[in-house]
Amino acid sequence: MSDALFDLDKQDAVARHKELSEKIFYHDEKYHGQDTPEISDAEYDKLRLALIDLEKIYPDLATDQSPTKKVGAIPSRGFKKIKHVVPMLSLGNVFSAEELEDFLDKVRRFIGVEKAESIEITAEPKIDGLSCSIRYENGVLISAATRGDGYEGEDITDNVKTISDIPHALAKSAPEILEVRGEIYMRRDEFIALNKKQEEDEKPIFANPRNAAAGSLRQLDSKITASRKLNFFGYALGEISEPIAETQWGIREKLKEWGFAEASPAALCKNSEEILKFYDEISTIRPDLTYEIDGVVYKVNDLKLQERLGFVSRAPRWATAHKFPAEQAVTIINDINIQVGRTGVLTPVARLEPITVGGVVVSNATLHNEDEIERKDVRIGDHVVIQRAGDVIPQVVEVVLDKRHKDSKPYKFPHACPICFSPALREEGEVAWRCSGGLICEAQAVERLKHFVSRLAFDIDGLGAKIIEQFYQEGLIKTPVDIFKLQEKDKESLTPIRAREGWGDLSAKNLFQSINDKREIELNRFIYALGIRQIGEASAKRLAGFYGSFSILRKAMSEAQDQESAAYEDLLSIDDIGPLMAHDLIDFFTHDYNQEILDGLENILTIKEYEQVQASDSAVAGKTVVFTGTMEKMTRAEAKATAEKLGAKVSGSISKKTDFLVAGEDSGSKLKKAQALEVSVLSEQEWLDLIN
Ligand code: IVH
Repeated sequence: MSDALFDLDKQDAVARHKELSEKIFYHDEKYHGQDTPEISDAEYDKLRLALIDLEKIYPDLATDQSPTKKVGAIPSRGFKKIKHVVPMLSLGNVFSAEELEDFLDKVRRFIGVEKAESIEITAEPKIDGLSCSIRYENGVLISAATRGDGYEGEDITDNVKTISDIPHALAKSAPEILEVRGEIYMRRDEFIALNKKQEEDEKPIFANPRNAAAGSLRQLDSKITASRKLNFFGYALGEISEPIAETQWGIREKLKEWGFAEASPAALCKNSEEILKFYDEISTIRPDLTYEIDGVVYKVNDLKLQERLGFVSRAPRWATAHKFPAEQAVTIINDINIQVGRTGVLTPVARLEPITVGGVVVSNATLHNEDEIERKDVRIGDHVVIQRAGDVIPQVVEVVLDKRHKDSKPYKFPHACPICFSPALREEGEVAWRCSGGLICEAQAVERLKHFVSRLAFDIDGLGAKIIEQFYQEGLIKTPVDIFKLQEKDKESLTPIRAREGWGDLSAKNLFQSINDKREIELNRFIYALGIRQIGEASAKRLAGFYGSFSILRKAMSEAQDQESAAYEDLLSIDDIGPLMAHDLIDFFTHDYNQEILDGLENILTIKEYEQVQASDSAVAGKTVVFTGTMEKMTRAEAKATAEKLGAKVSGSISKKTDFLVAGEDSGSKLKKAQALEVSVLSEQEWLDLIN
């Protein structure tokens, strides 16, 4: 844990927590949702570790909404969804021999064995691909799913059936129900060949084999998947109707027997020396492997022990990943540019003298924010160590001070927006400078429009970033309302879209069609699309669930300006909406300009009322529930998710409107308040009885 963390006061900690969480959610979506990661895995891990450290000091920040409690990203659309009976979770990390020892100590402590006692551990390559769960019933492959958010993935059965080392049928010895889990990946030689072909066809090239595998698997047309050679290694099980082995090693052997390929080399180790020896060996032969790996996975071999060890929120206690260090190189910073985001955040980006790191040419690196630049004292003209692990937007690790020019001056972070020249402000507790230009800042306007049409918002095909920028510059689309007036406007235009270079009758027609398809929109998507500060996908859903219709939400936001009002109290009672978020929300809705846009959108769109899921046949539909204390049978996150699935509104605080307080072990003040307000209090078991 870094000392600096202890100096943060609570307010700073809250801000830092928010910032880290937002970053993690953003990069999760980039990595899992869009296959376009922007930061290296190593840098991503750092974000997570910083968040975990922060939550150790301020445990109350570790709410169920924290990224530390979540896995992966939500599934992308286009494919049917498949629920995982056994969740597909993630792995914790170790980065050093010391951390490996900690991992082993924790395992021993949990199951209560002496340090001297040896626990068998399997060590296997950590394949850099996409995890997949393949279901066999009576030996026949019946479905295959991606990990998705860990609980629900995409149905990729047709695509998986094109992968040659996945058997379609298993020997008679296979149990009635068997889910084989493993990694779909693309071999290095296939990756190179595919990119060559992409280049010839003038199609975008893939940054790395993982992205290529993801892009190939995501094809709705399985013929395309079949034409891209993918492979599979099995390494774990999901649902099974009967045990097939007693150890992880045994699982590997059974899978091999049934015709699955297995990642090798692998080793069965008795202690940390043997484990680290394997790690060193595999590091040495890594470049010679036909596939990319990003580390080694250690698993407790005995499956009974695995079961006893179980899981901590998102990862098993019985396994961990030992990641390889990131690849590094030295280059020069030619310039530092400032990018302006949707909410005005100014992000510094280093323009580098292009250099090849681990086979990829790198010319930009993110510098995150002013503090990072100051901390590393990064200056224009400096030689810097940059690193990328696995993929994408690299990081500046440190400056090579020996090579610094004697006249070099510290970088001065601009205090004005480079686009609209409005002053930039840095609020207390924030690390980011923000352009204060708000609605007059073109950069922000364009980014807001991009957000409005993005995948989780209106999801308008054919309105990509480039086109939004162009139409904005031309004055065709200045606000979201203009998007829906585009066709009308275009009719009167002297330079109609269809007559432009790169367009035609058909592509213009398709664009209008995809816009028109979105004239009816779900409430949660609509709220998210507005791009209100801090309101991400999850909070948009909560707001939609709570208010039910857009007109009710708007009215409530107007009333909530008065902090003494019931509307304000209601807003704060929504799970995860705190005063800061409430402030941003109310602020958004009171702005004249936003009001005008909302009026315009309400006029031309049908914003659907929020449908409470399966509301009618559940005993808790429409009820407001608060969870407190420690649950035994499930985590609070799971309890909340189940409640929401059954149509209940989960709230973070007790009020007269609360229908039930579900009190686990060690319930404190909430229990007292519930009793005082005569809210009915349920034990965990009573709650389970009620919902079953
Ligand atoms: S075991 C409960 N074994 O790494 C966890 N995972 O960072 C079961 N991965 O989601 C996973 N190689 O996609 C396991 N030999 C291996 C692996 C492996 C790659 C991936 C997997 C997992 C991710 C976690």
